[in-house]
Amino acid sequence: MKASETKATLSFSNGGQNVELPIYKGTMGPDVIDIRKLYAQTGMFTYDPGFMSTASCESAITYIDGDKGELLYRGYPIEQLATNCDFLETCHLLLYGELPNGDQKKNFTKLVTNHTMVNEQMQFFLRGFRRDAHPMAIMTGLVGAMSAFYHDSTDINNPKHREIAAIRLIAKMPTLVAMAYKYTVGQPYMYPKNELSYAGNFLHMMFATPCEEYKVSPVLERALDRIFILHADHEQNASTSTVRLCGSSGTNPFAAIAAGVACLWGPAHGGANEAALNMLYDIQKAGGVEKIGEFIKQVKDKNSNVKLMGFGHRVYKNYDPRAKLMQETCREVLGELGLENDPLFKLAMALEKIALEDEYFVSRKLYPNVDFYSGIVQRAIGIPVPLFTAIFALARTVGWIAQLNEMIGDPDYKIGRPRQLFEGSAKRDVKPISQR
Ligand code: ACO
Repeated sequence: MKASETKATLSFSNGGQNVELPIYKGTMGPDVIDIRKLYAQTGMFTYDPGFMSTASCESAITYIDGDKGELLYRGYPIEQLATNCDFLETCHLLLYGELPNGDQKKNFTKLVTNHTMVNEQMQFFLRGFRRDAHPMAIMTGLVGAMSAFYHDSTDINNPKHREIAAIRLIAKMPTLVAMAYKYTVGQPYMYPKNELSYAGNFLHMMFATPCEEYKVSPVLERALDRIFILHADHEQNASTSTVRLCGSSGTNPFAAIAAGVACLWGPAHGGANEAALNMLYDIQKAGGVEKIGEFIKQVKDKNSNVKLMGFGHRVYKNYDPRAKLMQETCREVLGELGLENDPLFKLAMALEKIALEDEYFVSRKLYPNVDFYSGIVQRAIGIPVPLFTAIFALARTVGWIAQLNEMIGDPDYKIGRPRQLFEGSAKRDVKPISQR
């Protein structure tokens, strides 16, 4: 951390002693005021529910400029990565800090590919779920269960264990998501095929059956690979912070990633792609493009609790750069499948146009986020709506691991333990039950 020459001074209106606080500068982005000694110096905590102004850690992985609508992984713009690299190159970048050269790419791909199978017992564990269970309920269970299957890589403080757990998680997530899908539709599981690419293998495990040959479409393979790249990391979002907090207790990597999966499920986070598509379906059912005005009116009504799903972001106060790339992929996939006139895509475009011109959205800087178009792409590929968030979890796993490893590798890391402003009852005595 580079200390700034400027210091912050905290003063109190009651004449209490001023406190000088150090300021640190990052490579880019806002400086931070170091308040770590504040409690010792003043007996006070800071109050910031929702982390509106709080940096919870130092990180060198992902940088977002929300005002510009810029996303960088290890310094590289997401647009360049999505256009010039594949997902496994992006994984290498996030995990080790650099894009691989030819040999490194070959070795890394081989390493991941050699771990794609899951322990055969996993299917019996999976069998305990109801067939109609939500895939995210299943995924939370399956990822957590990995700690019971891979005992030799559960020591989070051992760098070798962390490395093996990282590769296992990245390699096995597609297998687990595809198994969760096959289980809910009652089809036999398809074993991974290691001659295929990461995305191609996932398509194969999802859509092939033992009865006939399945040919991976290069356009769909590339589209899925792009979805994986765009979702691979997003700095200290809710699920990543959950993984860090969970991992800070020293729990094993599989348990920490399972916590991330559980957090991602929520509709304000990863569940938004499912919610966005369901919203489009609802508008379509109600009458389509003609009903957009009515829908927008509901969204603007504070009492309605209706949100324009796939719009708005805590950090982006501009167009989410991933949404632009996803819109491009959406056109490509619909073109490949002969669905150029897909009514949901048309509806989404019309909805976006109207929202972007509406004072409510303009004044609040609400723009489409990555989830606005990713649901349409996934649906076109044939992925069922409830599986969308599981695909997001699959892609985000590498980001979670990179962030977890970064935290554990930092010699100064401590267990995460926020404080509180207590507003409950002051100390009181328990009365006998007859007097309560
Ligand atoms: N539709 C309508 N109004 C919205 C929306 C929306 N999608 N998003 C924010 N607003 C409004 C809020 O009501 C609030 O209005 P007010 O100032 O009049 O009270 C204002 O915009 C600011 O919104 P906050 O909720 O304070 O913003 P916050 O940063 O807390 O929330 C969030 C961000 C949760 C993403 C929010 O925009 C949202 O719920 N969007 C829809 C869900 C979604 O698409 N989530 C995906 C996020 S991206 C991802 O996880 C990959």
